[in-house]
Amino acid sequence: MRLGKRAWIAILVGGGLGSTLLGLAFLVLVVPRVVAHYSWSVERLFRQAPQQPIAFTHATHAGDAQIPCLFCHRGADTEAAATIPSLEQCMFCHRFIVGTTEAKQAEIRKVIDAFNNQEPVQWVRVFRLPDHVRFVHEAHIRAGFTCSDCHGAVETMTTMRQVQRSLKMGDCVGCHRQNNAPTDCAICHY
Ligand code: HEC
Ligand code: HEC
Ligand code: HEC
Ligand code: HEC
Ligand code: HEC
Repeated sequence: MRLGKRAWIAILVGGGLGSTLLGLAFLVLVVPRVVAHYSWSVERLFRQAPQQPIAFTHATHAGDAQIPCLFCHRGADTEAAATIPSLEQCMFCHRFIVGTTEAKQAEIRKVIDAFNNQEPVQWVRVFRLPDHVRFVHEAHIRAGFTCSDCHGAVETMTTMRQVQRSLKMGDCVGCHRQNNAPTDCAICHY
């Protein structure tokens, strides 16, 4: 089959455009993921804060109202888990505080309704290690670390997200080495 000049041009231009698009798609979709897999600093740019069932903000509570972290996360200096507060703890204030703006009233209403209907709020976890890993908050607080060393400037966050560090195995072990803390496998693995 003989192809005319026009047909060749069409094929070359079309093919060129096709591979340009493929190349672009590769750059936009694939490269960041591969780089993110190997680099935490890139990964965190792509890590989204999850949508929570109630628009609770740390900036209001830990920032503006200066409520201490331990008032809500009561296990952090005594137990393995820091724990997420129960609705009873929220109602300590929200029996009286109903919100100054319409947006806040709507979200606080959800807290009060959930409490009255005894429906626990299904918060989406942001920091979660695999089940085979053991982590103990108490030991780290006792060693002198602060919440922000691992969780970042929480008191400025409107939505909770992981920014400060990767908390991957290399990160844990690296800090343990620096501080002469144990690094044998059985310390962190069941
Ligand atoms: C020590 C008091 C106190 C406690 C405890 C408390 N809150 Fe609040 N909350 C406030 C204050 C103060 C505001 C700001 C109200 C305003 O500006 O209108 C607020 C605002 C809110 C808002 C509106 C959005 C925002 O964050 O600004 C939501 C939603 C909310 N609280 C949920 C909760 C939940 C859920 C809990 C329990 C985990 C809780 N609160 C515990 C004092 C408290
Ligand atoms: C008024 C109660 C309250 C106070 C005060 C508070 N928190 Fe929270 N915290 C919550 C609630 C409710 C959640 C779950 C919703 C969310 O992730 O935003 C949460 C979630 C978190 C999480 C994410 C847990 C996970 O894995 O999903 C971290 C980390 C955290 N808080 C740290 C802090 C630190 C650090 C402070 C002090 C600077 C603080 N919180 C103060 C109520 C509180
Ligand atoms: C050495 C790093 C480190 C420090 C310091 C630290 N955390 Fe955590 N935090 C973690 C890790 C890792 C997880 C995930 C634990 C898991 O999945 O078992 C976590 C999980 C949490 C959670 C989710 C619920 C839970 O009980 O696991 C909350 C809330 C939290 N941290 C709050 C705090 C607060 C408040 C402080 C300061 C008093 C603090 N953390 C200090 C590393 C740290
Ligand atoms: C910022 C530094 C730092 C980071 C990050 C860190 N650790 Fe630690 N961790 C320590 C130090 C220091 C100790 C020793 C505390 C002591 O002397 O009891 C410790 C102790 C522990 C212990 C022993 C608790 C016990 O029973 O006494 C476990 C388990 C542990 N870390 C797990 C982890 C895991 C898992 C991670 C990562 C998700 C992690 N750590 C991240 C500094 C860190
Ligand atoms: C200071 C805590 C700590 C110590 C010590 C530690 N690990 Fe881990 N390890 C973790 C954490 C956190 C994870 C989960 C996060 C991740 O995959 O990086 C993990 C994950 C793993 C995984 C699963 C990796 C995957 O891709 O799912 C294996 C296998 C493992 N560790 C083996 C070991 C062995 C073998 C040792 C001893 C030489 C060891 N770990 C010591 C914290 C630790």
